[in-house]
Amino acid sequence: MPTFMEPFRIKSVEPIPFLTRAEREESLRASGYNLFRIDADRITVDLLTDSGTGAMSAAQWSALLNGDESYAGARSFRRFERVVTELTGYPEVIPVHQGRAAERILFSCLLGPNWVSVSNTHFDTTRANVEAIGARAVDLPGLDSEFGGDLDVAALRQLLEDGAAVGCVVLTITNNASGGQPVSIANARAVRELCDLHGVPLFLDAARFAENAYLIVERDPAYHGVSPREVARELFAIADGCCASLKKDGIANIGGMIALHDKELAAKCRDKLIISEGYSTYGGLAGRDLDALAQGLLEVTDLDYLRYRAESARWFADELAKAGLPVLRPTGCHAVYVDAAELLPHLSLQELPANALACALYAEGGVRTSDLGTLCFGRVDPNGGPDEPAPRELLRFALPRRVYTRNHLEYVAEAAAAVAARAESIPGMRIVEQPAMLRHFTSRLEPL
Ligand code: F0G
Repeated sequence: MPTFMEPFRIKSVEPIPFLTRAEREESLRASGYNLFRIDADRITVDLLTDSGTGAMSAAQWSALLNGDESYAGARSFRRFERVVTELTGYPEVIPVHQGRAAERILFSCLLGPNWVSVSNTHFDTTRANVEAIGARAVDLPGLDSEFGGDLDVAALRQLLEDGAAVGCVVLTITNNASGGQPVSIANARAVRELCDLHGVPLFLDAARFAENAYLIVERDPAYHGVSPREVARELFAIADGCCASLKKDGIANIGGMIALHDKELAAKCRDKLIISEGYSTYGGLAGRDLDALAQGLLEVTDLDYLRYRAESARWFADELAKAGLPVLRPTGCHAVYVDAAELLPHLSLQELPANALACALYAEGGVRTSDLGTLCFGRVDPNGGPDEPAPRELLRFALPRRVYTRNHLEYVAEAAAAVAARAESIPGMRIVEQPAMLRHFTSRLEPL
């Protein structure tokens, strides 16, 4: 069958708001042209992130009612623990409220000042958590196009042979920063071999482990016909443990975890957990959240579901390309990325093409996307000169899990076509107010 369709039907619905163009333009002005600052009831289609925005299944909603809210040793924790251990093979399971809590706790046990964490790419909070310890986060992205998430093994070998104080290697699966591209099994094994040679532990940032597993099934002939769950298990088996935001492939609205082989390391993590997240069997979550996550982790490796994720991203990328947007390929599962600098060549990188495009799309159709360009990744000049631009000006159309249908995405593509048709008239942006760090969340801008 040439047409893919959503492998679910809809049981519960939520209305979405439609605003006039004048209302949207007013929202932009009031928010300082920063889409993070616009309230969700003024957004028609929200593609800001795939994190915590998924729709739970009937089985997940029903699991909520079975949540055991006992402070210690709740039945919900035991269910979560069992599902995670069966999936990952890691016996030590530590729940946390979201991914960045897992990063903070794990890294504070592994790294110290001047140590190095190496990754295919550290996600922005992951980097911030490494740097908060006084350690250095080194990104070594590879070049493969099919497995664009791979880590550059030759560069890692060089770094280790040069005697850098590497405290851990982190493979982010999939690599969010490089378009949600997967890491291959071969790359993970090669990284493991180097880690073993130098006595360095290897961890996964497993936020999108199921999508990575599916893309391996699709792209690596050796894995055609293997179930995504088995591939995921193989990936987990290569590493010493993982930290994960379960707001993505846990298909729940909140949650995260650390899962490990090493008992001693787990004990250290639990000591830190209790200071800020809570007791070791709930880690900042309600019992019912753990039940919803356990169920989500069973559903997420379903082949039809993952095929739908990959096919809808591919189809949506084709629609955006037909609309005249330069899309990055191959697509992954969780988002489609567009090169805003290529669409808006009349703007300099300091004129923030990705933000300019994000604002134009919101004005056109109330569509919220996230800009991953100079505002997010550029370096501010301490002497007040122009920013050092980010390597790329990307606009990310993230795809929340099981939330929007093909019609919603067709609507987005129509808005994109209207914006692309007037690309040369889209004005650049200027920052009028910005905080010292993570400025893309709160700064205020204005059109030039
Ligand atoms: N690691 C990766 C690869 C991520 O994409 C994220 C979050 C995190 C860690 C942090 O997890 O949000 O649960 O604390 N990514 C979201 C995004 C925010 O929009 O891509 P968290």
